Amino acid sequence: MVSANIVVVGSINADLFVRMPRLPGRGETVSSGEPAWFPGGKGANQAVAAARMGGAVTMVGAVGADAPGQMCLEALQVSGVNVSHVVQGSTPTSIALVMVEESGENQIVVADGANSTVDINAPTFTELLTQADAVICQFEVAQEVVLVTAQATRGLFCVNAAPVREISADLAGLIDVLIVNEHEFAAYGNPTQGLVVVTAGSGVAKVYRNGDVVAEAQPPVVQAVDTVGAGDTFVGAFVVSLAEGMDVQTALERACAAGSLSTLAHGAQSGMPTVQAVTAFMQDNK
Ligand code: RIB
Repeated sequence: MVSANIVVVGSINADLFVRMPRLPGRGETVSSGEPAWFPGGKGANQAVAAARMGGAVTMVGAVGADAPGQMCLEALQVSGVNVSHVVQGSTPTSIALVMVEESGENQIVVADGANSTVDINAPTFTELLTQADAVICQFEVAQEVVLVTAQATRGLFCVNAAPVREISADLAGLIDVLIVNEHEFAAYGNPTQGLVVVTAGSGVAKVYRNGDVVAEAQPPVVQAVDTVGAGDTFVGAFVVSLAEGMDVQTALERACAAGSLSTLAHGAQSGMPTVQAVTAFMQDNK
């Protein structure tokens, strides 16, 4: 089978994970265990997820010429993502502080660095985007970057609208697939004529078209150890499945299975499954 050609335009973060008994309140200091660094960023996570699901993936983004940036680049490469359009410049790599409490609840703060320098105005990007079967963006890079990417895309244009920020009418009109969690859905509603995919953690995920539910699936139950990056895994798996020509219900079930499996390891990218693992897991859960 020929791999779907996927381009991800988005963020690359080095994630500093800090585990603690409970998240701190305002003005409070909480002691934690050992900190740990992992590659992350919604863009890079979705690129890795899509590559492990069998996509031929190119990442467009930026990191600093520093150790965190090197860690993130290597993680992309190890998963087979083409990083020739990732710029390694003088602005430091963006850092995400990921605080996770014992219940699994987390809070993330992103200190923006190189993500703010992502520039897709070079002619080579236009060629890259026009040739893609699907392009994925998130909202951790500038709004202008997302809009210009949407305008150049000829295949499926998919947006994971996280974190929440305004979706302009111009952008909304160009989105084929909007993927959000239930909190983001409450903030946005149905801003596009395309598919709207709503995840709900371990609850039922739904796909809407013009306000009607056209598919739904229950993520398989697993003993989760870390849910950070599960949403990104879902996005990568869903988009690859659609780009390969699968129907919406099948794409949703594969994305739910991939998302569940991704929670079995610490760090956003460590647990992201291969397509073979997802297929076997779905057989076992029939
Ligand atoms: O979606 C999870 C990601 O959000 C983390 O990897 C972190 O970098 C933040 O961008």
